[in-house]
Amino acid sequence: MKNLVILTGAGISAESGLATFRGNGGLWEGYNVYEVATPEAWERDPAMVLRFYNWRRQEVRRVKPNAAHLALVELEKQFDVTIITQNVDDLHERAGSSKILHLHGEILKARSSVNPDRIMELGDKDIELGDLCEDGSQLRPHIVWFGEDVPEIYNAMEIARRADILIVVGTSLQVYPAASLLPAAVNAQRVYVVNPDIPDDGYGNGITEIRKTATLGVPELVKKILKLT
Ligand code: APR
Repeated sequence: MKNLVILTGAGISAESGLATFRGNGGLWEGYNVYEVATPEAWERDPAMVLRFYNWRRQEVRRVKPNAAHLALVELEKQFDVTIITQNVDDLHERAGSSKILHLHGEILKARSSVNPDRIMELGDKDIELGDLCEDGSQLRPHIVWFGEDVPEIYNAMEIARRADILIVVGTSLQVYPAASLLPAAVNAQRVYVVNPDIPDDGYGNGITEIRKTATLGVPELVKKILKLT
C-alpha cells in the first residue's frame, strides 16, 4: 500500500465552526499570543491561560467533524494514511481516521506542568487553578506553546519523508517547524494543497493548488485520487 500523508491546519476545522488563527476574524486578532500561549504567559497569569483554553475546549466539544474530515477517512480504503495535524481539536478522531499525529498537542488532554510525559484525558472536565497532577504539580493544557519544543516533529518529518502522496489542507504554513513538513516530503510523486487563499507566488513547482474551501476541495480531491489508483 502506498503511503498517503495529510498535513492539516486550522482551515480544515473552520467550516465546523472553529476559528483559524491568522487572517480576518482569526483568533490571534482578538488575543495576544504572548498573553495566552507561551510559557511566559503561564508563569505570569496561569488563571488567564486556563480560561482561554477552557473556552476553546468548550468550542471544540460543541462542534462536529465536517465533510473534509469525513472524506479523508475514505482514503484509508486504498492507502496507508497518516494525518499530521497542527490542530488541537479531535475532529479527525471523531470523523474516524486511524493514524493521527498531533504536532501541537490536544486540547482535550491535560498534563503535568513539570513532566511533559504525564498526560491525562480530561473527559468532560475543564482545568482550574488548584487541579493537580498525581506528581503534585498544577495541571496545564496539553498544548505546545510558542517557544516550546515540538517533540513530535521528528516522527512527523520521517512520516513526511516516506510519503508517496502528500495533501496539505487549511494551513497558512507560517509556523515552524510544521511548515518544513512540505519540503520534507522529498519522495512524494504528487503534492496537493487545498486552501481558498493560496499566496500568489504559490508553493513551488509540481504542487497542485486547489483554491477551494476544505469542505468543497477535499471531497473532490479524495474522489479524484481514489479513481486514479
Ligand atoms: N478551508 C480550507 N482552508 C481554509 C479555510 C477553509 N474553509 N478557511 C481558512 N483556511 C485557510 C486560510 O487561508 C489559512 O491559510 O486556513 C489557513 C489557516 O491558517 P492559520 O490560521 O495560520 O492556522 P494554522 O496554519 O493551522 O496555524 C498553525 O499556529 O498559532 C498556531 O499553534 C497554532 O497550530 C497552529 C499554528
